Amino acid sequence: MSSNRIPVIVDCDPGHDDAVALFFAHARKEIDIRLVSTVAGNQTVEKTTLNAQRIISFLKMKAPVARGASKPLFRDLITAESVHGESGLDGPVLPDVHISAVEQPAFSMMVKVLEESEKPLTIVATAALTNVGLLLLLRPDLKSRIERISLMGGSLSGGNWSPSAEFNILVDPEAAHVVFSSGLPIIMSPLELTHRALVTTSDIERIRSIGSRSALLVAGLLDYFWKVHERAGFLGAPLHDLCAVAVLTAPEIFQGKRGRVQVECEGVYSNGTTVVSLVDFPDPDANVEVLLDLDREVLVDLLVTTLETLD
Ligand code: RIB
Ligand code: CA
Repeated sequence: MSSNRIPVIVDCDPGHDDAVALFFAHARKEIDIRLVSTVAGNQTVEKTTLNAQRIISFLKMKAPVARGASKPLFRDLITAESVHGESGLDGPVLPDVHISAVEQPAFSMMVKVLEESEKPLTIVATAALTNVGLLLLLRPDLKSRIERISLMGGSLSGGNWSPSAEFNILVDPEAAHVVFSSGLPIIMSPLELTHRALVTTSDIERIRSIGSRSALLVAGLLDYFWKVHERAGFLGAPLHDLCAVAVLTAPEIFQGKRGRVQVECEGVYSNGTTVVSLVDFPDPDANVEVLLDLDREVLVDLLVTTLETLD
């Protein structure tokens, strides 16, 4: 494969939108998935790992799946059963598992993949940052092997799980603090962006009309995800996690500003809040590209054309 592919680790908690992000990343020729690691978040790590195995098996992906943290660094786990269901991927009949997770935990596999890679990797994080935080705490020497972290999480104002915090950050604020204060280049897809990454019912029908097994499964996942969000007053299903992948392959459809991000870890009601300071002038401490807007139609077209390449 051409050396200009982007080697990535996808750290996720499938999760309907994580699943769509995995389909997309797998289908993009410019992305080379080296590892899929799972973490507790949308559901328990047992369920997010089983879901990752289902997707990897369905797509016949070559990348290993490694199970990660079963709970946040210091806090009790919160899950999002009300959004993703009891299985974490409720809705369609789910694919059987043909590929097992490796024995090694996600941390060990992340270390292995980073050490063995011929060039620095991008970490795509679409869940609580527990695995990534642990990696940076235990192996800070490997920061030189990480090109950037593209993460879905946080917000500039307001939350989706507490009044001020977005779910991925709220699950593990301390891990998020480790990541945002690491000094590594970060691309942040906050709620202000991902709430514009909406797929509507007509977009879902466009995907279903592709007619392939992949398109039918994605449409089935989106049917469920849309129903949950319709009840919450959304105009479409927000594909939060797709943003963290799509920005790697089509940065031109996103607009953002540089900034610094701090994470509230000692609040009474505000834990998990991301305090985002956007900067207008060059600032060496502004290690985060905060994505603020996207071209929704182009993103949906990109998702559809990408899904058309899968069987
Ligand atoms: O707040 C949205 C994020 O939380 C998404 O990554 C979703 O999959 C859940 O993990
Ligand atoms: Ca997720």
